[in-house]
Amino acid sequence: MPEQQARRVPGTDTPLEAITLGTSGLGREPGGERLARELVSGRFRQLDTSNEYAGGRSETLIGQVLGPADGVTVFSKADRDPRTGVFDGDRVMRSFEETTSRLGVGTLPIYHLHDPFTITVREAMAPGGAVPALVSLREQGLVAAIGIAAAGGTLVEDYIRTDAFDAVLTHNRYTLVDRGAEDILRLATERGMTVFNAAPFGGGILSGSPRHASRYGYRPITPEFGQHVERVRELCERWDIALPAAALHFSLREPRVHSTVVGITSVERLEGLDALVDAVIPDGFWEELQALGTPPPSPVD
Ligand SMILES: NC(=O)c1ccc[n+]([C@@H]2O[C@H](COP(=O)([O-])OP(=O)(O)OC[C@H]3O[C@@H](n4cnc5c(N)ncnc54)[C@H](OP(=O)(O)O)[C@@H]3O)[C@@H](O)[C@H]2O)c1
Repeated sequence: MPEQQARRVPGTDTPLEAITLGTSGLGREPGGERLARELVSGRFRQLDTSNEYAGGRSETLIGQVLGPADGVTVFSKADRDPRTGVFDGDRVMRSFEETTSRLGVGTLPIYHLHDPFTITVREAMAPGGAVPALVSLREQGLVAAIGIAAAGGTLVEDYIRTDAFDAVLTHNRYTLVDRGAEDILRLATERGMTVFNAAPFGGGILSGSPRHASRYGYRPITPEFGQHVERVRELCERWDIALPAAALHFSLREPRVHSTVVGITSVERLEGLDALVDAVIPDGFWEELQALGTPPPSPVD
């Protein structure tokens, strides 16, 4: 696996790993118990979850299989109230209690503010707001670090500029076919933040599966964007490189990214991850990718 900047899991001596398994799909389909068991017993030792994934089922399933001796690190996120949309300090505290109770843990290494779309940054930062609650959890030692995890664009940048956060999770904006997170990466690197790059397959289109061919970042693609994806796919074919392997390594080789969050939907996908991680991509491929030019705006830009 390519070398990335040496980092520790906050609050521990454990090195932060380059791969984090994303569990937003865990608990949405039957067979979640088996997948959860595989997720905590394999080669990759970090999981990304959230209070709201599968209505809490992702965390519950992880909690059912997680043992203290597993050596698995779980990152989670505070979510707004699912019924009212309220996302204030009290809600963050309740969200934390729900998460830790489902996971069966007392503390978390990183706790993100997740998709704060129902509040402004100013509301989040105000006394009684979501961010002071996260800071308080960190001061109490209940979380070792706090992060902002959301769609890209100026919202995430504005949260980074508050200097309140230790970590950021961006998604679908730094991929083989998208550079939308450039400013996020720059701002986070300037501050020494821990950076998670989630959705290296753009939610599925870069997995190569025809099922995902018409969407990027969970939105329909434009013809221009589709043509660019096709050019990248042809380039992979010429080099005899699997499209998802190139997509994964695009993120793994980026020194400003500390861990790449890959969405795992099934045991088969988890088993298939080994070969993608172990693939060796020649330097010449990256030079030819660059020669394809700046990708057109993606549906998430
Ligand atoms: N706001 C946030 O905090 C936020 C937002 C987005 C994502 N995330 C995190 O990032 C994770 C990843 O995002 P994502 O799942 O949306 O996008 P992704 O990782 O770009 O794509 C996941 C899709 O790629 C395919 N895939 C997975 N492993 C594969 C393999 N070994 N070979 C080929 N294809 C493979 C799967 O397709 P199939 O469906 O065909 O199996 C899966 O649905 C999430 O689970 C979540 O933890 C966080």
